[in-house]
Amino acid sequence: MQKPLMPPAAPPALAERAERVAPFIVMDVMNQAAAIERRGGNVVHMEVGQPSAPTPASIRAAAARALEDGRIGYTQALGTDSLRARIARHYRAAYGVDVAAERVVVTTGSSGGFILAFLACFQPGARVAITAPGYPAYRNILIALGLEPVAIEVGPETRFALTPELIERAHRERPLAGVLTMSPANPTGVVMSPEAIADVAGACRRLGLWYISDEIYHGLTYEAPATTALSADPDAIIVNSFSKYYCMTGWRVGWLVVPERMVRTIERLQQNFSISVPYLSQVAGEAAFDATEECEAIKAGYAENRAFLLKALPEIGLGDFLPVDGAFYIYLDIGRYSNDSMAFCRSVLEEAQVAITPGLDFDEGRGARTVRLSFAGSLAECEEAVSRIGGWLKKR
Ligand SMILES: Cc1ncc(COP(=O)(O)O)c(C=O)c1O
Repeated sequence: MQKPLMPPAAPPALAERAERVAPFIVMDVMNQAAAIERRGGNVVHMEVGQPSAPTPASIRAAAARALEDGRIGYTQALGTDSLRARIARHYRAAYGVDVAAERVVVTTGSSGGFILAFLACFQPGARVAITAPGYPAYRNILIALGLEPVAIEVGPETRFALTPELIERAHRERPLAGVLTMSPANPTGVVMSPEAIADVAGACRRLGLWYISDEIYHGLTYEAPATTALSADPDAIIVNSFSKYYCMTGWRVGWLVVPERMVRTIERLQQNFSISVPYLSQVAGEAAFDATEECEAIKAGYAENRAFLLKALPEIGLGDFLPVDGAFYIYLDIGRYSNDSMAFCRSVLEEAQVAITPGLDFDEGRGARTVRLSFAGSLAECEEAVSRIGGWLKKR
């Protein structure tokens, strides 16, 4: 046998910044629910943040025609010309804002859009302000890219929105490079008013920060429509997706609107990362803008669920939440019952067979006394969940 040239070294270490990325707690809840179902249990699912309705038929038909045609190749890295033009037209129709198609970048869901936008905007180590509570992937993507998330606590007093004062305070502590907001928000369902968005955009301009606006839940509002940050600042970076309003989570297609000077940089990144977004998904995305009737019918179902829950939850002793303006979430304060939302959700799942998500996914500090309920399912499921949780609370 040949003698090794060198003694074996210790196995290489995994990258520290990748190891710091936390798991999604909601995925663990889904696994526990699946285990109960395998044992024959019947779980009501209010944990998942995706529409239970199938993708509208007209969207699937457009993709099926393209599939039949068979010419499924790479596209331009920034997306097909026709989809980019269609998205640009959507901004005029939906918001009265002019966006040049050249500024639109098609991405693999908004998740892919965040990676491109963060890499294009920020130097290694840059500090980026996000909200707590907030969507957990922001924090985790920033960490994985060697950036520093700065979680700013927000609460009902600002309707869970960042304000210029909060941004300025964080910037004074140590300079920020950017601010990321979302409206409607996950997990709170709160919509930022046009004034609140203009205030954040103004603060970013004054301080020389990038402003990134996650608008993935646009279209899903129950009172006033949501405002795009582009109406406050034409240079804001918009992140959006077909996942939620259009019921297309599995198609993995979304888009960015970026300032003209950033387009070429993003194009180079996309060329190298993924070459292009899957062609069939881009065809489906284009058809989505003509599926308004089906999408509105699905949204009417959420509105019914919302109206039921806003009335029924307080009746079973769960009334501590802000009215949901948009998305399909209710973010409940359960402090009356528990200071351990993980244990609370585990008990609700095991004893009442309703899956809900602990707030710790969204707020590492205060999330121990909050939970998120998703009402993206049917009214019958919402009714069953309330009846089970109500009965369970009474017996405790
Ligand atoms: C606020 C928010 N942004 C972004 C995403 C990512 O969605 P996608 O990558 O499917 O577009 C989600 C998904 O739940 C979300 O809640």
